[in-house]
Amino acid sequence: MNPTNPKNLMSPMSPVTGDRTLIVGSGFVGTGVARRLARAGDAVTLVSRSRPDRPPEEFGARWCALDATDGEACGRLVARLRPERIVLVHGPSDVTWCEEHPEEAGAAHAAVAANFASLSGTSRLVMISTDNVFDGHARHNTEHTPASPANAYGRAKLHAEQLLLDRAARAVCLRVSLVYGHEPADAGKWLNFFAACAHRLTAGEHVEAPDDHWTTPVHVDDVAEVVAALLAGADPLPPVLHLGGPDRVTRAEWATVIAGALDARPGLVLPVPKARSRYASRPDNACLVSELLPDLPATRAVSVRGVRDGARDLAAAFRR
Ligand SMILES: NC(=O)c1ccc[n+]([C@@H]2O[C@H](COP(=O)([O-])OP(=O)(O)OC[C@H]3O[C@@H](n4cnc5c(N)ncnc54)[C@H](OP(=O)(O)O)[C@@H]3O)[C@@H](O)[C@H]2O)c1
Repeated sequence: MNPTNPKNLMSPMSPVTGDRTLIVGSGFVGTGVARRLARAGDAVTLVSRSRPDRPPEEFGARWCALDATDGEACGRLVARLRPERIVLVHGPSDVTWCEEHPEEAGAAHAAVAANFASLSGTSRLVMISTDNVFDGHARHNTEHTPASPANAYGRAKLHAEQLLLDRAARAVCLRVSLVYGHEPADAGKWLNFFAACAHRLTAGEHVEAPDDHWTTPVHVDDVAEVVAALLAGADPLPPVLHLGGPDRVTRAEWATVIAGALDARPGLVLPVPKARSRYASRPDNACLVSELLPDLPATRAVSVRGVRDGARDLAAAFRR
């Protein structure tokens, strides 16, 4: 065994046969993508500034410390790992925090995109972007809808997309709608909407949810499936792709679906106006539709579940 081969640096439990994949950001979405790729045998390295609560070694990936805004540190890591595929799924991801810290948010997303654009060479590079690059006036946003960010987070992500697409040879920006899945109640961060609702509802607590804020939620495992397909897909791929679930729902409607799947006590979901909620700076219609993904050879076979199937699939993980 050659100890300098990065594939041989993996933990003994991972049957590593696939590509060397670097995932920048080891949070909710990054971990979902890493789990999917490690299960398929990729040599997955997750990076972030602090170690994630759930050890990636449990699912056959490994973790390294990296501040991805530090260009020299990124260069050293890429030289050591020689990744064949790179996924950018880092923060800052909290829309409210970005609204309060627009310059820091913009600088961080720009620096990470610029660093990996210049280091990616011929590697496939997928960046997870967002529906917040739209102003929310259209019921649905396709890849052909002109971007016009509603908030500081959307401006930061759109600028990062542009940097990446201008400078990297094989980049794809995958704009993803609201992602949901299981997260433990003690995750120590703001949970995804589904998990936050589910924990409150199973505890018999009320959930306030806007009835004028529409979204097309997408299960984290379906996001991971699409990312895996794009990483494996042959060139050329469109530079910008959209991924939303098939259902357009308000947060209040969605919370009601979640309550139903959990057999929660009736009346716990309280509809409120978006303007009076923590989602005030979000676009009214945070809805994504793809005119390209269903017909791409790489992603044609991937199906994305609706909110009822998603709630049914996740309910057991939240029941007390
Ligand atoms: N969740 C969604 O619904 C959704 C929807 C569309 C798009 N996205 C995109 O996906 C990305 C990740 O979302 P998420 O929900 O997984 O967020 P998350 O759970 O907050 O995870 C963000 C990760 O990025 C890391 N990170 C932040 N700054 C970093 C830096 N300078 N260097 C290295 N790592 C850094 C964080 O760890 P440290 O702080 O320890 O570094 C954390 O591991 C976001 O940028 C967002 O645009 C998410």
